Amino acid sequence: MKVTVVGTGYVGLVVGACLAETGNDVCCADVDAAKIEGLKQDRLPIYEPGLEPLVARNQRDGRLQFTTDVGGAVERSDIVIIAVGTPADEDGSADLQHVLAVARTIGQHLSRPKTIITKSTVPVGTAEKVRAEVAKQATAPFHVCSNPEFLKEGAAVEDFMKPDRVILGVDSDEAARVLEELYAPFVRTGNPLIFMDVASAEMTKYAANAMLATRISFMNQIARLCEAVGADVTLVRKGIGTDRRIGPAFLFPGPGYGGSCFPKDVQALIRMGEARRVPLDILTAVEAANARQKRLLFEKLQRHFEGKVKGRAVAVWGLAFKAETDDVRESPALVLVEALLEAGATVRVHDPAARETARRQLGDRVTYAPHAFDALGGADALAIVTEWLEYRNPDFTRIKQLMRQPLIVDGRNLYDPTRLGKLGFTYDSIGRPLACASS
Ligand SMILES: NC(=O)c1ccc[n+]([C@@H]2O[C@H](COP(=O)([O-])OP(=O)(O)OC[C@H]3O[C@@H](n4cnc5c(N)ncnc54)[C@H](O)[C@@H]3O)[C@@H](O)[C@H]2O)c1
Repeated sequence: MKVTVVGTGYVGLVVGACLAETGNDVCCADVDAAKIEGLKQDRLPIYEPGLEPLVARNQRDGRLQFTTDVGGAVERSDIVIIAVGTPADEDGSADLQHVLAVARTIGQHLSRPKTIITKSTVPVGTAEKVRAEVAKQATAPFHVCSNPEFLKEGAAVEDFMKPDRVILGVDSDEAARVLEELYAPFVRTGNPLIFMDVASAEMTKYAANAMLATRISFMNQIARLCEAVGADVTLVRKGIGTDRRIGPAFLFPGPGYGGSCFPKDVQALIRMGEARRVPLDILTAVEAANARQKRLLFEKLQRHFEGKVKGRAVAVWGLAFKAETDDVRESPALVLVEALLEAGATVRVHDPAARETARRQLGDRVTYAPHAFDALGGADALAIVTEWLEYRNPDFTRIKQLMRQPLIVDGRNLYDPTRLGKLGFTYDSIGRPLACASS
């Protein structure tokens, strides 16, 4: 099938490469000329495991092209997928300017029948706005479908290739047949294509993200209470996760959720509710709990330093909002670093993939360590924010030798508190007993 994907970010690039991999003739279009120039030479603008070989192979074999000519890309294809960003507007609602700009371009270049798919996360009613915008100038019939994306950064290729399910909001049987054909290679093992009306598909994406954000905030608050009452959240998590009604996924407490989706999607859903006079109290609480959680690592450090943060040297391991990505949007690590800098600490950071993306916000206010251990020399504390594999089993003897004080504040519960105590560390994690050097 001839497919154009408009927007070549985390979602569009993965979608384009995976659709090319299954034999489609794909053109990825983006207004960012530098991004497209790099992609033409197989230089990826993002870090995403497994994506680079996919882009290189399909480009070499002629199934994947890149262009800045969005209109031309629309004309060549029967299917046009909109995958541009939908950032939060000033009031938190989804900003649709990029989606509607693409819809306008599609309309200007629609002179034969096409299926238009909104894959960007958009509020209910957006497909109808896209339809109206395209219709202003289109000279041929077209369908508008909603096909929200559920891939996770860090496992995006795997998620797109083997989705739990594919949500397809369609306006006709004809559109359903097109989408069924497009997605058939990805659901051969029986995971379902779920067809529904367009509004329900748009809503499904927000409901899923809001539910996941709620689970995270819920466990983060339970973890805080565990610390206060002397319980261990790891055991509590196992205890509730084995209940089949609850299930084990997304019950890990941490430094607060970040990334390009949960924060803005929770906000957008709250605004959607306000606009319809349906208060979403739970989500307002989820947001507040998350904002509080993002301050937790700083508050723990402050406590260990007895309020005297000024002049302290703090090493921070992990800048990305989660492991296996270079995405630092809304990352709790940035909240921690900004709080430390504001309090007068000096900060040395390490991240295996997100150094350059973080540099755009942090500039030269921090020191960037090329290796994790390079951040530790003379440090008064080590704060762990991202659960990168390379942090999981480090040489603790060396860590202790390098640091001025053996204090680790761990936002990801990577280590065993008893072991760290025995090794001579003060080890403060999330929702578990504090380990002290003497224990
Ligand atoms: N990142 C994720 O994990 C994820 C997962 C599921 C859904 N989503 C949703 O997918 C959408 C895209 O997210 P992303 O993370 O890929 O965004 P992104 O910011 O990484 O990429 C968006 C791309 O769109 C391009 N663009 C903007 N306006 C354009 C225009 N008029 N014409 C052509 N290109 C244009 C930008 O240059 C950019 O390259 C959002 O709605 C997001 O909520 C994201």
